Amino acid sequence: TEFISANDLSSLMDVSVNEVIKVCMQLGMFVSINQRLDAEAITIIADEFGYDVEFMTTEEEQALEEMQEENEEDLVERAPIVTIMGHVDHGKTSLLDYIRNANVTAGEAGGITQHIGAYKVKTESGRNITFLDTPGHEAFTAMRARGAKVTDVVIIVVAADDAVMPQTKEAINHAQAAGVPIIIAINKVDKPSANPDKIREELSQMNILVEEWGGKYQSQEVSAKSGLGVEDLLEKVLLEAELLELKANPERHAIGTVIEASLDKGRGYVATMLVQTGTMQIGDVVLAGSHYGRVKAMTDHRGRKMKEAGPATPVQLLGLDGAPQAGDKFVVMDSEREAREIASNRSQMQREQSLRTRKHITLDEIGRRL
Ligand code: GTP
Ligand code: MG
Repeated sequence: TEFISANDLSSLMDVSVNEVIKVCMQLGMFVSINQRLDAEAITIIADEFGYDVEFMTTEEEQALEEMQEENEEDLVERAPIVTIMGHVDHGKTSLLDYIRNANVTAGEAGGITQHIGAYKVKTESGRNITFLDTPGHEAFTAMRARGAKVTDVVIIVVAADDAVMPQTKEAINHAQAAGVPIIIAINKVDKPSANPDKIREELSQMNILVEEWGGKYQSQEVSAKSGLGVEDLLEKVLLEAELLELKANPERHAIGTVIEASLDKGRGYVATMLVQTGTMQIGDVVLAGSHYGRVKAMTDHRGRKMKEAGPATPVQLLGLDGAPQAGDKFVVMDSEREAREIASNRSQMQREQSLRTRKHITLDEIGRRL
């Protein structure tokens, strides 16, 4: 199989394509700029420039491909996955907290809210929305960059007593680049100094024209403090989601993304995982990055035990042999032996890489450029 062109390879290595072609000629390979290269050629050329190449057609990638090829009749509606982004202190966490606490149904009362990176709520209209929490001040951590890929809708929070700030713009650009629909939440409207019109004006200057002003972007004035407008905001999220016709197949092995993971003194490794398609069950064998394990227990964000987790459901999972990285994909596998082997190969590769000073490119990176 051929992977990437001479041109793509040169840009990955940050050299000119002419240099790549020159080296190829010295090696007796005659390639043109847009000619796709096979694994052997890529490895030899990269070596000349001091790069090691890692080819990663992973279990996860295979599973993700399968996920795209599901039969229409196997698919059922799933909840939208939403990320809240915005400038520091504009109220992302407050908004998430309000939503999490307000949308507790009677049977749930008494549960202890845990601050985990993802949760699913039921709106007043009875439909589900899954929220991903993102770390506060670091503008664009790996999680956010990768997070955009699992996110269906982005809520951009702008404080009405402040202004459209650099991180607001960055968040908007990021969502647009990822092709994720945006809803604007103009927050802190309870404050006497709030000026929502000023925010709408500043947004319009960057071509974000809200519906009230004849544009295409849904927006909602909210107060994360009093809850004003929050339920309306959720309905707008659901409206946006309806247009996307989000579906998944619950009757398959689970595939998804690691939101966060850590070592808990009492419980061992705890990973917050977002199931994107399929259903995760107790006893399933999970491969996540360079770790694996059998699912011992699953809980929701209120610490309640779960037997299974379907599409667009976040779970806290016990049973992994280590902490995978936020943003790692995970996949449920049939064979525990195979999962163990892949995980151990990956950890070994990581150890070797960290010892080596050679530059390194992976097919994953290559894939992103294509
Ligand atoms: P980072 O995570 O640091 O980026 O901030 P954030 O966007 O998560 O903001 P956070 O929710 O921590 O809120 C920042 C401050 O604004 C806190 O002191 C909140 O109490 C306050 N705040 C958030 N929303 C509102 C609101 O709707 N009204 C008022 N009056 N204060 C709010
Ligand atoms: Mg925060």
